[in-house]
Amino acid sequence: MKIKLFGTHLKNRVLLASGVFGFGLKFKRVTNSVGAIFTKGITAQPRKGNPPPRIYETSSGMINWVGLENPGVEYFCTNIIPQLKKLKTRIFVNIAGFTMDEYEHSVERIGDTVDGFELNISCPNVKEGGIAFGQNAKMASMVVARARKKTRLPLIVKLTPNFCDPLVIAKACVEAGADGISLINTVYATAYDIKKRKPLITGGLSGPAIKPFALYCVNRVRNVGVPIIGMGGIVSGQDAYEFLLAGASAVAVGSVVLRDPYAPLRIIKELKKFIYQETKHAR
Ligand SMILES: Cc1cc2nc3c(=O)[nH]c(=O)nc-3n(C[C@H](O)[C@H](O)[C@H](O)COP(=O)(O)O)c2cc1C
Repeated sequence: MKIKLFGTHLKNRVLLASGVFGFGLKFKRVTNSVGAIFTKGITAQPRKGNPPPRIYETSSGMINWVGLENPGVEYFCTNIIPQLKKLKTRIFVNIAGFTMDEYEHSVERIGDTVDGFELNISCPNVKEGGIAFGQNAKMASMVVARARKKTRLPLIVKLTPNFCDPLVIAKACVEAGADGISLINTVYATAYDIKKRKPLITGGLSGPAIKPFALYCVNRVRNVGVPIIGMGGIVSGQDAYEFLLAGASAVAVGSVVLRDPYAPLRIIKELKKFIYQETKHAR
């Protein structure tokens, strides 16, 4: 289960996806057992997030429209990082932004106080009419190149699966200096309020419904030349193992922890059995 990724030793291949476990300061038995945590997304300025409803349960997943609520990079550096450093796991800070300057600023401000960064490029570029950075190879590559100049720590880029070819974007990010690719972020989705005859929520779909699509995306980028962290709908060790077969070096678990915060412990145990079987078979 142990793996060396981006020059860093991870105690196992099950990681916690961004946004579902806050900063990982609660449920320490879980956070200390996983290979790494991707923190909640951090922006240059504090954000209150979106008004309710922010979450809607679907038949096999959930739609969220949280809106990147977070205390901003200054508060994060002063108050959260010192606590994160006490955890017995690796910390990758998920960075979000609405301009390239914002990404660059947060990476520079955090410096080398953590184990690495995950750039969430699913955010809209406000200077380009709101198209997400990750939907355009040139914009994605510019964000990565600018962040690259500000850090020597591992730089993972998290891809959006929405309305773009993840392989084209992944190649551009690797050329610009990304050390790893994580995917997928949530999938565009809408739920309707039939009484009001209008949308109730439009946001990102996660959970088991997106797993087959996530596996497709991971398999599509598998030869991009850097390690891949696969995620999307993982609820069991078998799901995690399928992502490894699709080309991921490690996996991240997301929405399932909102239902069962201890799910990562079970997934680690189950995945171990699959890897043990594989090693036995290979001998
Ligand atoms: C409530 C919620 C908040 C999220 N916040 C972030 C975030 O801040 N940054 C990010 O890159 N991804 C965020 N994600 C996406 C997850 O990290 C993950 O990519 C996605 O949910 C797919 O995995 P899952 O199906 O296992 O949940 C969030 C997902 C959920 C459900």
